[in-house]
This record gives sequence, C-alpha cells and structure tokens, in this order.
Amino acid sequence: MSTAPSESIWLARRRAPILPELHDTHADVCILGAGIAGLTCALCLLQEGRQVRVLEREAIGAGETLRTSAHLANALDDRFWQLEEWFGEDGARLAAESHGAAIDWIDRFVRARGLDCGFARVDGYLFAHGAPPEELDREHAAARRVGLRVERLDAGLPGVPLGPALRFADQARLDIDRYLDALAGAVRELGGRIERAKAVAVEGGDTPRVELDDGRTLHARAVVVATNVPFHERVPVHTKIEPYRTYMIEVEAERGAVPDALLWDSGDPYHYIRWVGDALIVGGEDHKVGQPEGEAVLEPYQALYDWACAHVPGVRALRRRWSGQIIEPVDGLAYIGRDPGHAENVFVVTGDSGNGLTHGTLAGPLIAALVQGEAHPWAELYDPRRKPVRAAREWTRANVNVAAQFLDWLRGGEAPDVQALAPGDGAVIRDGIHRVAVHRDSAGHLHAFNARCPHIGCAVHWNARETTWDCPCHGSRFAAASGEVLNGPAPHGLEPVRPPAP
Ligand SMILES: Cc1cc2nc3c(=O)[nH]c(=O)nc-3n(C[C@H](O)[C@H](O)[C@H](O)COP(=O)(O)OP(=O)(O)OC[C@H]3O[C@@H](n4cnc5c(N)ncnc54)[C@H](O)[C@@H]3O)c2cc1C
Ligand code: FES
Repeated sequence: MSTAPSESIWLARRRAPILPELHDTHADVCILGAGIAGLTCALCLLQEGRQVRVLEREAIGAGETLRTSAHLANALDDRFWQLEEWFGEDGARLAAESHGAAIDWIDRFVRARGLDCGFARVDGYLFAHGAPPEELDREHAAARRVGLRVERLDAGLPGVPLGPALRFADQARLDIDRYLDALAGAVRELGGRIERAKAVAVEGGDTPRVELDDGRTLHARAVVVATNVPFHERVPVHTKIEPYRTYMIEVEAERGAVPDALLWDSGDPYHYIRWVGDALIVGGEDHKVGQPEGEAVLEPYQALYDWACAHVPGVRALRRRWSGQIIEPVDGLAYIGRDPGHAENVFVVTGDSGNGLTHGTLAGPLIAALVQGEAHPWAELYDPRRKPVRAAREWTRANVNVAAQFLDWLRGGEAPDVQALAPGDGAVIRDGIHRVAVHRDSAGHLHAFNARCPHIGCAVHWNARETTWDCPCHGSRFAAASGEVLNGPAPHGLEPVRPPAP
C-alpha cells in the first residue's frame, strides 16, 4: 500500500506552466487564486468587459482543483430534505437549479471550444448502503420536489452490493486538468492576466488593497478572494465552515464492473466512485483536519481499498493515492458573495464542500453580477453574511468543537523530548509553558516551530501520514521542515524557534 505514488491522477499527467511574476500593482478586478472558482470568476468578469488580474501563489489548479474526482452533480452531497429544512423548499430548489446551471455552463464552454476534456453527461447513483430504506424514500421525494429527474431502483445496480439506489439523470464528469487549462486559455484570450504572487492581507474600501508577501501593495477597484478558504479575515466566515481531509485511490478494475456513472453512498464516512479512462477512482474516508478518529482514518488508503474490493467486482491493484481538503459549510451551501467581514468591494468564494466544482462554477456569473453592482437570483442563497440559524445544531457543534481544541494548551506534549523522535518523525513537545512543534528530518536535523497556529492561535498537531503540521481548528496545514502554509486560512507560516533541549 505505501509504495503507491501520492499524487493525483490529474497532477501526475500534467506539467503546470510556470506563471509570470506580477509586475504591475494596479488592477481593475484582482482575483486571488487560480482554481476553478478564481478562473471562472475571471472569465465571467472579462465577458462583462472588466479587466482582470488573477494572482496565484503557486500554479494553476495547485490547490484543491487538481485533486478532485471531478463529479459534476446537482444531486448534492447534502440531502435535499435537509436543505429544505435549512433553506425552505424554494431555497432547496434554487440550490438544485444553480448547480444544474453550473453543469450547463461547463457543457456550453466545452462545446463552444470543441474541447476534448472527457466531458460527458452521465447518471448519478446514490446508494443507501446501510442507511434505512426510508432515508432513500425521503430523499427521493425531496429531490423530485426540487425538480430533479430521479428514480428509485429497489434492486440497486446488478452486481454492485450497495443496496437500493436513487438514479439521478443529467449529472456529468470531466477531466479537470484539460478543462482548467482551457479555462485559463480563455481568460488570457480575453486579455486577463494570470500571474504569480502571494497575497498576505486584503483591506476593503473604495480602492481595496492587497498586500503581497514581498512587501508590495496592489490597488484594485474590486478584489475576489477565491483561495478556497479566505486567509484575510480571522473570524466571520470561519465559524460557519469546517475543514475535512479527504482521500482518494486509483485502482485497476474490470471495465464494466460498474457503469460509466457517478456512484456514491450515504455512509459515514461516505465513499464515491467513477471511471477516469481505464482506471477506477474511489474516494472518501473524510475526517476533520487534525482530528483523525477511529481505525479507518489511521490508514485511510487501506480502508478505501478494502471498501472497493468489498463493493466493486473485479478490483485489482492499487495504482495511486492522494489526499485533499474539503471545506464544509455548516448548512450545506457555499459562501459566495460580499465579504462576510464587511470589507467594501471585497468578495469571497468559500465553503465549496464536495460539490466544489459546481459551486466554483456558479460563483462565476454570481460574483460577476455582484462586482458589477447588479442583483442576481442566487445572491441571497449563497450570501456569505447569512446566519445559519436553521442549522443551529450543526453551527453550535462546529464551534464547540473548535473551542475544545484550545484545551490542547493545557495538555502535555505528543512526545516527552526530542530524543524520542526518529528520523522522519514529528511531535509537539512541551517546553515549560510553551508547546514546540519539532520535526526530525531524514538526515537527523531538527526543525522547530512555535506550535501556535498563526490564524487565531490553536495548537497544531503532527500528521504522521502526510508529514505535516495540521491545525484542528480551521484546517491550516504547514510543511514539516519549513513551516510554510500548505492550506489556509493561516496567512503565513509557523514561527521558527530553537528546539527544546533534550
Ligand atoms: C479529493 C477531492 C475530491 C473532490 N471531488 C469533487 C467532486 O467530485 N466534485 C466536486 O464538485 N468537487 C469535488 N471536490 C471539491 C473541489 O475539487 C474543490 O472544492 C474545488 O476544486 C475548489 O476550487 P477553488 O477554486 O475554490 O480552490 P482551489 O482549487 O484550492 O484554488 C485556490 C487557489 O488559490 C491559491 N492561493 C491560496 N492562497 C493564496 C494566496 N494567499 N495568494 C495567492 N494565491 C493563493 C492556491 O494555490 C490555489 O491554487 C473534491 C475535492 C477533493 C480534495
Ligand atoms: S486554522 Fe484557525 S487557529 Fe489554526
């Protein structure tokens, strides 16, 4: 299991072009982040006649977009009966329509450019798998109410032991690497610039400012923070989203064992499957960042492989494995629109959930309208300033969980001292009143950091599987040896300190 490469199927076959450095620090609209959300917003704004600069700290798609399984679904991860409770029947219908519109947007883009990017309309199957059959009935009825074409299959799929299922028409899949490159190409054709720069702060106003890590300041008329999770504010949106680690494997399997479709179950943690060429990709085993629980998450790839062998006929060797981050909104729908911290002329896209490709796509027309000062029928549904009062139980649970993480400061360390660390290991070690995050690299050198996460001060944990420092509060992750940010919201890396004496 451990010998399979840890790189997504898309990243493995792609050489990301090096982005040009940013020279000009003025922009009409400045978009931060070149994932699906940032690039779709860029294209929609260019189509409205705006001039756009996209700033990306690493490479196009280097965040979560090129780790995705690329299911395009308006049969959403959160059940429609649940969305009806949170947003009412009209809100749930609008959610289904907006994700359907996102798939149509991608479909039109692909057709207009004659793209060969694996796009196809396929069916989606939601399996009860362990859940009581009434759950499927409830979702069936709600999905019909919101206008989806859905049917119940009592016998499920022949040969697939996952029980009864709902079959949703008009879902889709694509090869995200090719699609994203085409999106970037379209942005450049309309005069948009995609440049390399890392933003560390954003300030709203008539002319909002973006501070860069090299000390420069960019001035724009509007700023869109599409960095997957906003790094520019400490609290407002972070009380309403929860970060999860999620895992994927690519396996050899008998073609025809399952149809060319999207398959997912209603387990907890849940699993999902699709074909990419001759490979089957299987995902799931999610857990909160920095808070692995139970036996499966100790070896999520093994758990995924075992699950695939047990439920998909003809699964053979494991070829590849990778992980990524999913930002779950407590009430199921993304936060897309005006800055929740009330920064003027600043807009955000976050809380993408497992439907992040369609959330990222529907963000395009929505953000373009808002930047233009126009109304949009989806604006209220996705408003980042909304209070998820009807999801009060989930909202409270998320915040009680965060508050509990601060108790780490009262606890002992993960290891008694640095001598306990073998090469490749890491642990938080108590040093008097301080907690120090110490990693011993494979050459035996120690790298030590203040364990205080620069976001709002929770203590990071050692993630032995991915050799990273993970913050259990809002999901920031840091490189083991350099302390650099891998996932936000932390605006900068861990503070280096001297290793504690043995
Ligand atoms: C394993 C996995 C499977 C998934 N499967 C699906 C699926 O089947 N269907 C689906 O719809 N969704 C799926 N998702 C979710 C979806 O892939 C993501 O939600 C979506 O790609 C997020 O896009 P984004 O543009 O918001 O963020 P990203 O793709 O993360 O883009 C943000 C960009 O911002 C850049 N950035 C960050 N900070 C800064 C900064 N300070 N300055 C400048 N640039 C910065 C990053 O480098 C990154 O390139 C999956 C996600 C994972 C991890
Ligand atoms: S991510 Fe918020 S405190 Fe670490």
